[in-house]
Amino acid sequence: MDEFFTPVTVGGLELRNRLVMAPMTRSRAADAGRVTEMTVEYYAQRAAAGLIITEGTQPSVMGQGYVSTPGLHDEDQVAAWRAVTGAVHDGGGRIFAQLMHSGRIGHPYLYPDDALPLGPSPVASGQKLFTPDQGMLEHPAPREMTLDDIALAVKEFVSAARNAIEASFDGVELHGANGYLIQQFLADGSNHRADAYGGSVENRNRFAVEVARAVVDAVGPDRVGFRVSPGTSVNGISESDPVAQYEALLRELNPLGLAYLHIMELGDRALTLRLRDVWDGTLLLNPHATPTSFPASAEEGAEALRDGVADAVVFGQLWLANPDLPERIKAGGPYNDAEPASFYGGDHRGYTDYPSLG
Ligand SMILES: Cc1cc2nc3c(=O)[nH]c(=O)nc-3n(C[C@H](O)[C@H](O)[C@H](O)COP(=O)(O)O)c2cc1C
Repeated sequence: MDEFFTPVTVGGLELRNRLVMAPMTRSRAADAGRVTEMTVEYYAQRAAAGLIITEGTQPSVMGQGYVSTPGLHDEDQVAAWRAVTGAVHDGGGRIFAQLMHSGRIGHPYLYPDDALPLGPSPVASGQKLFTPDQGMLEHPAPREMTLDDIALAVKEFVSAARNAIEASFDGVELHGANGYLIQQFLADGSNHRADAYGGSVENRNRFAVEVARAVVDAVGPDRVGFRVSPGTSVNGISESDPVAQYEALLRELNPLGLAYLHIMELGDRALTLRLRDVWDGTLLLNPHATPTSFPASAEEGAEALRDGVADAVVFGQLWLANPDLPERIKAGGPYNDAEPASFYGGDHRGYTDYPSLG
């Protein structure tokens, strides 16, 4: 699978291979959203990736969607992340921070003063929050964001991006996928607004484009990627016309000159190819050409590169369970299987103890 091992340039960075580690929430941050030594070890073990995209990281207190996720909104969090970026760079790797505002995927349990989560419209997700002490808590309908709330959320993405650069990240990925705040605005199932942020394809794209433009203005286009998952149903999302929504979105993002677009594919290769045709820049693909190709395999990724579908491929579970993934691919395997019971929360087990080849 030589196609993985030709260099590629992403946002001006020359990556040593085309194997990108997907953003994966692991819910192992300490109190106050600080990553720990264990997290330094976890990412350092995976520094052989051409690029690591971190777990979703909240840009503000109200952006937190799960327990024990890390943040990038205060100095202690920045200092804690600096140990991670240092270790990855020492290993010759590159690392972007995924900025994830969870929006309505949240619960007063997580916020000061029992605040309601925020969303474009007061439409509940139908999902639940895991808590260590109160079991599963149903997400309430979010508080509909005012225009001031929207402007503040844009500013929070900007300050988190600046903090990421301060923490020596190579860039940030804006999380426009998987039903969190940005996608809640894109999706007509969760966005019922009648103002400039809803009611039409263009208006539903407005928040995403404003966030991207503001973050590009702050840290430069080479340091900004954008993730989408068109047509997903995760986190209660519904989109009646993903083709129209995302083609229009990409046409608006094209002139910003982002480092990359990252598509989480959900079994519809035809949709990926349509978006590929609209997108002018570098494309990272988390490849699932058919609805049954989960988790993505090395073979599927190699095929996507061979077919010219993407410039680099993004793997989640393969990287989670195989810290030395490039070596394993070169050796033709074998691959460790990821253990779902240890995905979220816990200690080093299922986190830093997946074995490398001897
Ligand atoms: C444990 C776990 C946590 C995840 N957390 C995130 C996240 O924080 N942000 C995100 O964009 N996607 C997240 N995802 C989705 C992955 O990035 C990826 O799209 C998914 O695992 C499918 O790719 P795969 O088939 O290679 O595993 C997560 C997936 C897993 C398994």
